[in-house]
Amino acid sequence: MERRAKIYEGKAKVLYETDDPDLLIQHFKDDATAFNAQKRGTIVGKGGMNTRISATLFSYVAEHGVRTHFVKVLSDREMLVRRLQMIKVEVVMRNVVAGSLAKRLGLPEGQALEQPVLEFYYKDDALGDPLINDDHVRMLRLATAAEMEAIGDGAFRVNEFFFDQRGILLVDFKLEFGRYKGEILLGDEITPDGCRLWDKGTREKLDKDRFRRDLGGVEEAYAEVLRRVCG
Ligand code: TMP
Repeated sequence: MERRAKIYEGKAKVLYETDDPDLLIQHFKDDATAFNAQKRGTIVGKGGMNTRISATLFSYVAEHGVRTHFVKVLSDREMLVRRLQMIKVEVVMRNVVAGSLAKRLGLPEGQALEQPVLEFYYKDDALGDPLINDDHVRMLRLATAAEMEAIGDGAFRVNEFFFDQRGILLVDFKLEFGRYKGEILLGDEITPDGCRLWDKGTREKLDKDRFRRDLGGVEEAYAEVLRRVCG
């Protein structure tokens, strides 16, 4: 597959066109940002690890009824994906209190939620990705009611991941979806950049919170997730 023009460069990924108008190459970078890019850094080897983790998780959810943009791995840091028209909503699913939920509602980090909590954020860097609800999605014409239903259903299915069997507590995660030939597909990535993953026994953080909060051992945490997910 030939790599053509760069069409997007984000904080952790680059997208290139290919000779097929329906397919893109998604390149994973080592760069990391946090707090709407106020904090910047590098996680050595992250691009390669995230390529493999994402590929494994996309393949797994595809086998469990969630269509995704993932086609195949092309190289160390590149995967072939379907070209989606992205929906400007970040979809967050939570099983345990952490991060902005702890802050917003004044709850202790680590408290288990009786049932998963699904949240939507408006993808707009200038606004700092504000929390929105279904009515705001409709008001802003970001997606139809049927599309939001497909998205919610996809997020709940992803929440059934095999992490528990690998000794990982899936605290929360962020997904992004897009349109492809009239269907809703899961896009973007599923990696420790956008998930909170804790060791089930020790509750040690194995995700990007180690970078966000300067906890050290960032590369080691990603390598441990790679080992448990892909090993
Ligand atoms: P939050 O607690 O900061 O709202 O984050 C919830 C989940 O979403 C967490 O797993 C990290 C992920 N996330 C992203 O992937 N990108 C973002 O910009 C933010 C704020 C969170």
